[in-house]
Amino acid sequence: MLKIIVMVLAVLTTIGWLVVQMRTQSSLASRLTPQGLSLVELAMSTYESRSLVEMKVRQKESRKEYEKLLRNVEKGKAVIISVMDHGARGDGIADDRPALERAIAAAQEVPATDRLKVVVVHLPESFTFLLSPVVLSPTARNLELRIDGTVLTPTMESFPPAPRASRKMTPELQRMQYAFIEVANADKLKISGFGSVEGRGAEWWRIRKREPMRRAPSLLLIRDSKDVAVSHVELRNSPFYHVVILRSKKVRLKRLNVSTPSNSVNTDGIDILASSDVRVKDCWIATGDDNVAVKERSEYVEVVGGTFYKGHGLSIGSLGERGTEASVSHVHLADVTFVKSVQAARIKTWQGGRGHANNITFKNLTVQGVGIPIVIDQFYCPVSQHPADCTNSSKAVAISDVTIDGLSGWHTSGVAAMLHCSEAIPCSVNLANLSLVAVRLASLFPITSSSQAPGCSNIVRCFNVVPGNRPHRTLSVLSPGGGSIIAPCSNGNEMHGFRLDRTRKGKRPPFTCVHPP
Ligand SMILES: *[C@@H]1O[C@H](CO)[C@@H](O)[C@H](O)[C@H]1NC(C)=O
Ligand SMILES: *[C@@H]1O[C@H](CO)[C@@H](O)[C@H](O)[C@H]1NC(C)=O
Ligand SMILES: *[C@@H]1O[C@H](CO)[C@@H](O)[C@H](O)[C@H]1NC(C)=O
Ligand SMILES: *[C@@H]1O[C@H](CO)[C@@H](O)[C@H](O)[C@H]1NC(C)=O
Ligand SMILES: *[C@@H]1O[C@H](CO)[C@@H](O)[C@H](O)[C@H]1NC(C)=O
Repeated sequence: MLKIIVMVLAVLTTIGWLVVQMRTQSSLASRLTPQGLSLVELAMSTYESRSLVEMKVRQKESRKEYEKLLRNVEKGKAVIISVMDHGARGDGIADDRPALERAIAAAQEVPATDRLKVVVVHLPESFTFLLSPVVLSPTARNLELRIDGTVLTPTMESFPPAPRASRKMTPELQRMQYAFIEVANADKLKISGFGSVEGRGAEWWRIRKREPMRRAPSLLLIRDSKDVAVSHVELRNSPFYHVVILRSKKVRLKRLNVSTPSNSVNTDGIDILASSDVRVKDCWIATGDDNVAVKERSEYVEVVGGTFYKGHGLSIGSLGERGTEASVSHVHLADVTFVKSVQAARIKTWQGGRGHANNITFKNLTVQGVGIPIVIDQFYCPVSQHPADCTNSSKAVAISDVTIDGLSGWHTSGVAAMLHCSEAIPCSVNLANLSLVAVRLASLFPITSSSQAPGCSNIVRCFNVVPGNRPHRTLSVLSPGGGSIIAPCSNGNEMHGFRLDRTRKGKRPPFTCVHPP
């Protein structure tokens, strides 16, 4: 009897406590959430409604371009060649690649006139074009491939095997040779339209979950080209990366929609390697791996606007694997919203590598339900890619002049930023205008003081960081009590670092909190 009374009392006390907790909306909380909605629900409903709006904008913009194109045809400034006039079936069963190739050949033969600005090869709306893998190497003409219909890859069984790997290539380069649509040695090519490219990736992911070494094709590879623009198209369910930009210059990606489930395998959104002057604007990228990855020998890369959903955010690197030399410089990431991604922005380098990551700016980013928003990891060494043991080396890829200016929203890990730099070469980082809230159990509670992670919860973990030389150096990370801390990385090591790969095995060396609970 006594036991029951004690239990009932305990339950009542707990309920009472919960009610009190739910009601004590901190001033911070009431500014952030309308009554009753959990943060995750709020983030999802705004994500979905924004996504609908974005889809309409994308289609509208693209249809407007088409109307303009039709006017230019009347004025003799443009010619449209439909694949349907070259024998395409558009039934999703017959291979329409020969028809596409004939249409492109015809486009190359249109006589040049003073007026003629562009020749458009059109894959019209309401048809599905099954294509076997195709290489586009247009020469000497402003060519545009306009996709308004659906383009379909062959099934995995009928996809030609990967080209033979050359020993001279790095593993990453080998992976990048295999593609569905390959744009090679092009100069002034545009791919446009509101249509989509469907990659039927699920079969590939199933196999690659078991055999990660098995190669799979990217949907669109742009290599050794210059002045290439891709806009508005939807790319979905790629077997591997969605868009690869390799050894190219002046590439513009605008308002693309990459849409692939988060449980897919290695489905990076956009990968950039050995390329310069690349702009990614207002792209909507939902994927299962890096939303955007900037890899070695790339410079002047700008990623502005858009939304990255799930995935791993924007990654620079990994650089310096197996002692190699690798550099990336002049990367600007701004005005992007990250929803439920693992990280927002990340720089990863291996111990023992050489080269640098220099002049990297992350500006005005918004995070909603992101794990660790900012990660600089100079001890990158994931279990899946171990060359051998993760060695600690006196060599490292140098990271300098990184600016993080303007980062707001909420994260779920308790760690706002992890700047974990090498002992051999500390990195220089400018931090400004961080305004973040750490949240736990966000799916159950509206944000209240009880839904924030307790204690050491909204930390910036610095390890071998030296402050950069930019003028603004204030940092405010909102602590659960609403207080803020200023410039936590200005004294070098505020935290004892730990290697990211070790946390997975649950071994965390102790660290101290920047601010008291
Ligand atoms: C992207 O494509 C997916 C799949 O068709 C669609 O559900 C989503 O609304 C699209 N998003 C945008 C922003 O266009
Ligand atoms: C840093 O990179 C930006 C592009 O992101 C570029 O405009 C700027 O000139 C670079 N600064 C230096 C000092 O090279
Ligand atoms: C910050 O980014 C948002 C989009 O996330 C944009 O609407 C806003 O204009 C940007 N602010 C500044 C100051 O550029
Ligand atoms: C790396 O080596 C240095 C010097 O031997 C040592 O002080 C440091 O603790 C090591 N770091 C890690 C992460 O093992
Ligand atoms: C950072 O704060 C400074 C000073 O308040 C302001 O001038 C600057 O515009 C802010 N940057 C961003 C990205 O909000």
